Amino acid sequence: MTRSRYDTFTQAIHWFTFIAVVGLFASGLIMEEMARGPAKSQLIGLHISFGVVIMALTAARLGWRLVTPQPDPIPGEPMVQLMAKAMHGTLYALLIAVPFLAMMMVWAKGRTVGVFGLFSVPPMIAPDRDLAEFLGDVHETAVYVLAALAGIHAVAAIVHHVVLKDGAIARMLPFGEPRQS
Ligand code: HEM
Ligand code: HEM
Repeated sequence: MTRSRYDTFTQAIHWFTFIAVVGLFASGLIMEEMARGPAKSQLIGLHISFGVVIMALTAARLGWRLVTPQPDPIPGEPMVQLMAKAMHGTLYALLIAVPFLAMMMVWAKGRTVGVFGLFSVPPMIAPDRDLAEFLGDVHETAVYVLAALAGIHAVAAIVHHVVLKDGAIARMLPFGEPRQS
């Protein structure tokens, strides 16, 4: 049987991730401008919680991907298909690596990683101020790389859908007609 769209679980995770990454990026920039205080601590707490949720959902998505049939690739040049695969693989790697390295940054500061006040993950490494600072720089650079790649990925999807008219975005939605051409 040929499949032309992703399953509902994958679609839900994809769009939740998109919204969460936009929210995390914005909250990160806002956090930086805020003066120390309870409001900033609360926002950092939410930022950390949603970041950990993204990591967990990406891991779930990758596990699910291994055991469920995937839609056939969008017809096109093998080189373009390879580039799309490489982009998706890089985005998945970043959606795991960025939150994990950020967790290490929090641990290196000697703090636990709390998730919505429901549970917290105690430090798995010893406090280390230099390492925390280094991982802070890594976090800053990595989130800009993630944002840039996600932006290119989104533009590619829109070009497919609107210019090439192959219904690409409908593959990630429960409605619309994939493969319109
Ligand atoms: C995809 C997920 C994430 C995105 C897009 C994101 C984005 C950002 C951005 C744009 C900033 C401001 C720039 C900077 O100074 O680094 C920031 C700061 C920060 N993020 Fe994230 N973040 C993510 C996940 C996480 C996670 C999982 C944690 C912790 C477990 C975390 C902890 C922090 C902290 C503590 C800061 C302040 C850094 C500092 O002290 O300078 N972030 N984030
Ligand atoms: C933070 C933003 C985003 C991230 C991290 C992201 C990540 C991903 C990943 C990892 C895949 C591969 C799915 C798989 O094959 O397992 C994917 C597919 C897809 N994404 Fe995104 N995405 C983002 C935003 C967007 C936006 C804004 C759009 C639309 C404008 C979009 C449209 C699509 C489409 C249509 C597919 C399916 C491509 C295909 O059928 O080959 N994505 N996305």
